[in-house]
Amino acid sequence: MVEHVSRPEWVAVEEYLSSTLVKGGADLDAVLASIDAEGMPRIEVAPTAGKFLMLLAQIKGARRVLEIGTLAGFSTIWLARGIPADGRVTTCEYEPRHAAVAARNIAAAGLAHKVDIRVGPALDTLPLLESGPPYDLVFIDADKGNNINYLQWALKLTLPGSVIVLDNVIWEGTILDPGADPDAAAIRASLDFLGADESLDATVIQTAGSKGWDGFAVAVVK
Ligand code: SAH
Ligand code: DHB
Ligand code: MG
Repeated sequence: MVEHVSRPEWVAVEEYLSSTLVKGGADLDAVLASIDAEGMPRIEVAPTAGKFLMLLAQIKGARRVLEIGTLAGFSTIWLARGIPADGRVTTCEYEPRHAAVAARNIAAAGLAHKVDIRVGPALDTLPLLESGPPYDLVFIDADKGNNINYLQWALKLTLPGSVIVLDNVIWEGTILDPGADPDAAAIRASLDFLGADESLDATVIQTAGSKGWDGFAVAVVK
């Protein structure tokens, strides 16, 4: 577990960007309040990243989105905002308590009809999704030790042209020298996987803000 360290000026710039052009609104403010009230970890994506997920869904014209790691539904709500009324976000969450808070938040945001929360270890849920139609966009943001497993499942559940986003791939720069941190080693291995897999074309955007020094990978299935 790495300590995420934010420089105050990164946070100030992020807050400026959030209020000037992201403007998530009251439903997302309520999600953040619920995370604090429930004593859940503040590890949701930054507002700037959440809006990026919404815009990416719109750019892709995504109708079917798969998310791994729901927490309180912050990124889920952004993704659901980016798909049409008859689209669907399927989101996998291990902790029943997190899933219950997310369900409440998503319903309060008026998006329950677009979101299907699957409770349990994602590796138990993902095989059940194979019988359904493929996904246009996959957002992976859960236990980092399973990143490669999730990428392999994402490849099984998508088609050429589908988009995969993998959160937390810089991890305060520890990916260069993971040492004894198993998460850092797993994240590094998932980046090596993204670089080596012939069926994926990927890049990484580094970020600095309220989540410290981190970043996300964006890949297209070839
Ligand atoms: N995407 C969310 C944040 C997710 S935090 C957002 O940006 O708002 C990571 C979540 O993954 C936590 O809620 C954690 O309980 C969940 N998680 C951890 N291990 C998991 C697993 N094996 N399967 C599914 N979810 C898991
Ligand atoms: C952690 C997990 C995340 O998904 C994230 O975006 C930030 C931090 C964590 O486990 O510390
Ligand atoms: Mg994350």
